[in-house]
Amino acid sequence: MPAQRSHTTAHPPVTAAQLRRAARRVLLRNWTGASTVPSRGLYPHQWSWDSAFVAIGLRHLSAARAQRELETLMAAQWRDGRVPHIVFNPSVPLGAYFPSPDFWRSSTAGAGAGAPARTETSGIVQPPVHALAAWLVHRADPATSRRRGFLRRLYPKLVAWHRYLTEHRDLGGHGLVSVVHPWEPGMDNSPAWDGPLARVEPADPDSFRRADLAHGAPTDRPTDLDYARYVRLASDYRDHGYRDDDAPHPFAVEDPGVNALLIASEHALAEIAAEIAAEIDSGSAAGRAARDGLRSAPDPDVHRARAARLTAALVARLWDARAGMFLCRDVRAGEPGGRGEPIRERSVAGLVPLVAPGLPEEIAQTLADTLGGAHFGLGDTARLAPSYDLVGHAFDPCRYWRGPAWFNVNWLLERGLREYGHRARADALRAAVLTHAVSSGFAEYVDPRTGAGHGAREFSWTAALTLDLLAADPGGGGDRVPGRAEERVAAPAT
Ligand code: SER
Repeated sequence: MPAQRSHTTAHPPVTAAQLRRAARRVLLRNWTGASTVPSRGLYPHQWSWDSAFVAIGLRHLSAARAQRELETLMAAQWRDGRVPHIVFNPSVPLGAYFPSPDFWRSSTAGAGAGAPARTETSGIVQPPVHALAAWLVHRADPATSRRRGFLRRLYPKLVAWHRYLTEHRDLGGHGLVSVVHPWEPGMDNSPAWDGPLARVEPADPDSFRRADLAHGAPTDRPTDLDYARYVRLASDYRDHGYRDDDAPHPFAVEDPGVNALLIASEHALAEIAAEIAAEIDSGSAAGRAARDGLRSAPDPDVHRARAARLTAALVARLWDARAGMFLCRDVRAGEPGGRGEPIRERSVAGLVPLVAPGLPEEIAQTLADTLGGAHFGLGDTARLAPSYDLVGHAFDPCRYWRGPAWFNVNWLLERGLREYGHRARADALRAAVLTHAVSSGFAEYVDPRTGAGHGAREFSWTAALTLDLLAADPGGGGDRVPGRAEERVAAPAT
């Protein structure tokens, strides 16, 4: 894919039906037979949180394919419960992506932590959106889901995944998950990482070759210095056998986005547990299979209690009333063994908790206000919510996670605004996402102020979440009401 394709199409689709067809074409092109690549050029393997968002869109095309997307990912889960952030496709040449399987060496270096023997993966993780995705996929077609035993097979894996995060990654010791690499929260070069990352000795630049610059403009991507630090953190983790308990983890950050998605996914697990419990109670063949395949009966209350504990910890550790948002916490800053220190950078990760049900009312309201205020400008100076403070010292409208607006984040914010009762604002954001998805050629990310596209085009989650928003009824009919084919969703190009 050319790095610099024009960011607008001459005649963008302007009706819901046309947009749906265009999004569908992207997902069909990026499907490999068992899962979806985020982008044919830049990301030619399976990525963890990408697949979750892709499944949320695919469910509107084929429930079975959406289920398969998540099943393929979860088949690469490690025995310790971690879901790797990349599952490598063995038929893709090693040089197509860096760090490649021969860098991560999961099947050997990760054997002690339970990496699969026959599938190569990375050794780090990404945000846990998967239970939420699984629940939404199930709801799109419960009959197919029950017939295929989808939830019943996935549930124990999702439980083990959350257990890995809460038991192996509570590095701060206060009930929140820490990320140990800037790739884990998915917002690779966020200015929030600049401080903690400065403590990491960069790898020798001659020891590796970036593959991403063959597919993207260098000004849209992380710098070489950032990359050298990413490589150092990953190789040190690998050389430590990907173990967490006795690892030094020089980069350890509590991220509000990751923890909020874990909360949303625990709520989804409660729904999944209730669904499986009802199946078991019905005494049907599927119910008997579910009972026989599980160690103990799924209990929704266990998940609700976990979600409540995580929410209390999120508020206690990361809420900053003065900033009007959640802040990341650098677990390694300050006194050794102390509480760590808040990172005083406004990353959009601090607004993502809007997607978590059960926030205190005044916090949810403040987050919505901050989203529309000077720092994020939604509905005012910004067309889509930026990844970083519009007036922050490090704001860059083009460079990956240092300012550009991302479609998955805006989808999460749309959902949060709607759930907390800001219907008109959610409708406006939905319309803006659809407009800029099409005008940018389903770009990976866009300039939040102008909507100009950056990064890869025909990006899978942009297309998938477009499909999902099209399927949602802006009139408030829930997420399974088909969009009206004639609904105008994007202004024609002028
Ligand atoms: N986002 C990272 C990359 O650019 C790793 O997942 O490759």
